[in-house]
Amino acid sequence: RTGARVERLPLARFTTLGVGGEAEVWFVSDHAQLTEAMEQPYRILGGGSNLVIADGGVLERVIRLSGPLAERDLDIDPELSTDDELITGWVGGGVPLPGLIRALQKLGLSNLEGTVGIPAQVGGAVWMNAGTRYGEMFDGLHTLEIATPEGLKVVTPGDLRWGYRDSGIPRNHIVTRVRLKLRRSTPEAVLEKMTLADTARKGQPKMKTPGCAFKNPGGMGAGRLIDEAGLKGTRVGNALIAPEHANFIVNLGGATAGDVHALLNLIRQRVGVPLELEYELWP
Ligand code: FAD
Ligand code: EPU
Repeated sequence: RTGARVERLPLARFTTLGVGGEAEVWFVSDHAQLTEAMEQPYRILGGGSNLVIADGGVLERVIRLSGPLAERDLDIDPELSTDDELITGWVGGGVPLPGLIRALQKLGLSNLEGTVGIPAQVGGAVWMNAGTRYGEMFDGLHTLEIATPEGLKVVTPGDLRWGYRDSGIPRNHIVTRVRLKLRRSTPEAVLEKMTLADTARKGQPKMKTPGCAFKNPGGMGAGRLIDEAGLKGTRVGNALIAPEHANFIVNLGGATAGDVHALLNLIRQRVGVPLELEYELWP
């Protein structure tokens, strides 16, 4: 054994929705531990901010990046950088995104500030190219290191077919580390853009939630469509379609995955346009 810490734990505590039963959690802190963890069926858990996990948990082992794979080296690499493009050292996939965005702001480094307010880990945010209308993860990526069943790969964004809420990286390929591609700015200018992105969030609920339930279909707002279908405030069990913003489902306390699934089904039945789920449902 390579020494990964393995514990059977309730997954609810790793998610922003606060729902989910038990699984065997593998805390891996280096590549050898990760390789061992990937030998049996697995799932990769990031910040748990986009997940609806069944009350019975999942059968697969759940991998969580920790230790050095959750650390960041923001020193600018002089060999890779130019006057216009500053390239950092490696930032672990397990690094919490909000702290990273704050640190970059203090350093006056720009490109990722549009992602402020996304409670993800770097790996999860990269995997789905999380973003807002002020910017997305792929605005600031130089290199990605990805663990695949065939071994470790290092790729650039140009190798991937990424787009809106999509990195093009296959499911269960694990983003272990990235190098960031940044621009020199000032703390004040970066903060100004962060404030704009924050303001756009004012109408989002402050309760336990996995963020937006559905992607915006072809330029239309999923929230507006669900709102127009009259579904705001609809409750099933202890899950509620948020009165503040109809594309958010919140946990009133003690919600089950079944409550959330029932609301998702209701939305799909009532909204005339096909909607693509943004949440990940486990299993
Ligand atoms: P998880 O929720 O843990 O996992 C989501 C998926 O990513 C799973 O398939 C998982 O297997 C995979 N994954 C996790 N880590 C890795 C990794 N290292 N390598 C490969 N795959 C991995 N999203 C936006 O895009 N824009 C927003 O403005 C936004 N606002 C939000 C606001 C709130 C309050 C909340 C709760 C969520 C919001 N979200 C938003 C949704 C969510 O934060 C994003 O989808 C984010 O990318 C999820 O990242 P995570 O690390 O939490 O991943
Ligand atoms: N609207 C309604 N009713 C509602 C919700 C919204 O009419 O219940 C209207 C608003 O009035 C506005 C329009 O729909 O005119 C767009 O709403 P909003 O500004 O809230 O943006 P959004 O498109 O709903 C997107 C992202 C969010 C991101 C915000 C801010 C998606 C699916 N959602 O929301 O991302 O935080 O912009 O940039 O792309 C997420 O992906 O999880 C997420 C929260």
